[in-house]
Amino acid sequence: MNLILLGPPGAGKGTQAKLLIKKYRIPQISTGDILRAAVKDMTPMGGKAKSFMDAGALVPDEVVVGIIQERLNLADCSNGFILDGFPRTVAQADALAKVLSGLGRSIDHVISIVVDNEELLERVTGRRTCRNCGKGFHVSFDPPKSPGICDECAGELYQRDDDREDTMRKRLEVYEQQTSPLVEYYKNKSLLRSVQGIGSIEEIQQKIVSILQG
Ligand code: AP5
Repeated sequence: MNLILLGPPGAGKGTQAKLLIKKYRIPQISTGDILRAAVKDMTPMGGKAKSFMDAGALVPDEVVVGIIQERLNLADCSNGFILDGFPRTVAQADALAKVLSGLGRSIDHVISIVVDNEELLERVTGRRTCRNCGKGFHVSFDPPKSPGICDECAGELYQRDDDREDTMRKRLEVYEQQTSPLVEYYKNKSLLRSVQGIGSIEEIQQKIVSILQG
């Protein structure tokens, strides 16, 4: 199954992807996670991406398309993959179609997770992420059992630099201008299904699974 999770920052793409990888045993490919790891490791790509990420802007298409091209060629994608945070522009979507066609593959489903901006702001400013395993929490909606400590691996929880309110508002604008046209793009290809992203994490998971099981 080749799946795209589409949605604004904080919609729950990463949260849902982490549940789906357990169920379907296919990898989550998050360009945000890959870029954050590159920034942390101070690679040349990380150096290039950092200023865009800190400003809430998109990293140039050629950088992220290169990441995806390399990642989709790895053996663990042979039974499918979940793209989380990619594509984010029409140019990225066109590039993805080309890469997949070169591999004799195509996208099976695009799930758009819909959440209003006020809720997104609350979610993102309260988000905490495990430095060790990447599991996400929310200080009120999905709190860890012990504050600041990951339930799964006891790693340290941290707040992302781009989750400050002013940067988040910029990310929402960028989503509206550059990414939301993908809803129409995938609707026109009869691949898009929308899911209301308000409700418990489990309820939303069930809605997504029932679409995937069609
Ligand atoms: P990226 O890391 O992809 O961030 P994003 O798309 O902005 O998405 P988020 O990770 O903020 O949100 P999410 O939808 O995964 O929500 P989550 O599940 O964590 O990108 C970061 C930056 O990298 C970009 O700004 C850009 O600079 C760059 N970048 C990345 N990809 C790029 C690309 N393709 N092109 C160019 N640049 C790129 O949930 C959020 C919070 O809500 C959590 O605390 C969670 O616990 C909570 N939550 C989840 N579900 C629920 C629920 N149902 N009810 C209540 N709370 C919930």
